[in-house]
Amino acid sequence: MDNRPIGVFDSGLGGLTVVRQLMRQLPGEDIVYFGDTGRVPYGTRSPQTIERYTKQDCSFLLSERVKYIIAACGTVSSVASHVLKSLPVAATGVVEPSSDAAVKATRNGKIGVIGTAATINSGSFRRRIMQLNSEIQVFEKACPLFVPLVENGWIDRNDEITRLTVRRYLAPLGEQSIDTLLLGCTHFPLLAPVIMDVLGENVTLIDSGQATAAACAELLAKSGLLGDPARKGRARFYVSDRPEDFTRVADMFLGCEVDNHIMTVDIEKVDIPEASLI
Ligand code: DGL
Repeated sequence: MDNRPIGVFDSGLGGLTVVRQLMRQLPGEDIVYFGDTGRVPYGTRSPQTIERYTKQDCSFLLSERVKYIIAACGTVSSVASHVLKSLPVAATGVVEPSSDAAVKATRNGKIGVIGTAATINSGSFRRRIMQLNSEIQVFEKACPLFVPLVENGWIDRNDEITRLTVRRYLAPLGEQSIDTLLLGCTHFPLLAPVIMDVLGENVTLIDSGQATAAACAELLAKSGLLGDPARKGRARFYVSDRPEDFTRVADMFLGCEVDNHIMTVDIEKVDIPEASLI
């Protein structure tokens, strides 16, 4: 039994889609969440910058004595997975679990993948899906404007600007008759109701949060790292800039008040210990 917390990070609010699933699937676990709100978005940046940010984010979580790290960010998982492999604790990203879930879900073999520009340019989801089944057709689309919509809390299905933006990006995927859409950025499940309105009920959305939390639960169980199941897990939230916008959307999305637990970290000042991190 190991009661140390699980560390989760993202560039901002997106990783909460993984936290929500962790709270459901592993209610006894403590969680330390870091949202790099001062440096969001990651998805428009160079691989070198994303790698540096990833090292600092992981370094901060390690200083919180976490037993496991989840990169709840499609961009980090796609561009800096080598950093995750170099950590002194086990770590996982979202590419493998959500690609596996998409391949299981498709019936007609046509999967759409959406993510940030960095994620789509990396081809990470396409590669994983093709490894699992080379006959599947993958249609990719970068949707960079979804991230600021979510960070600003413009997630209401009746918001005209959000609907138009979603339609503009996703209409071409709808025309390809995909039956499964992999949300390859953890910010995107917050837009799921609008995406469903645009693509229709016949398209299955794969939320990386659910698949990633399940993979984490399995790994913790296998490695004897689960916490005491009789405990009620608690979550602590850290951000790297003003907590206000984060608080508003986090409350709405997680369905619980996170206000009292939000702390600020000066992430640029976090050292990267080169010995334990590549
Ligand atoms: N939520 C992140 C992802 O899954 C990052 C979005 C961004 O910072 O651009 O890709």
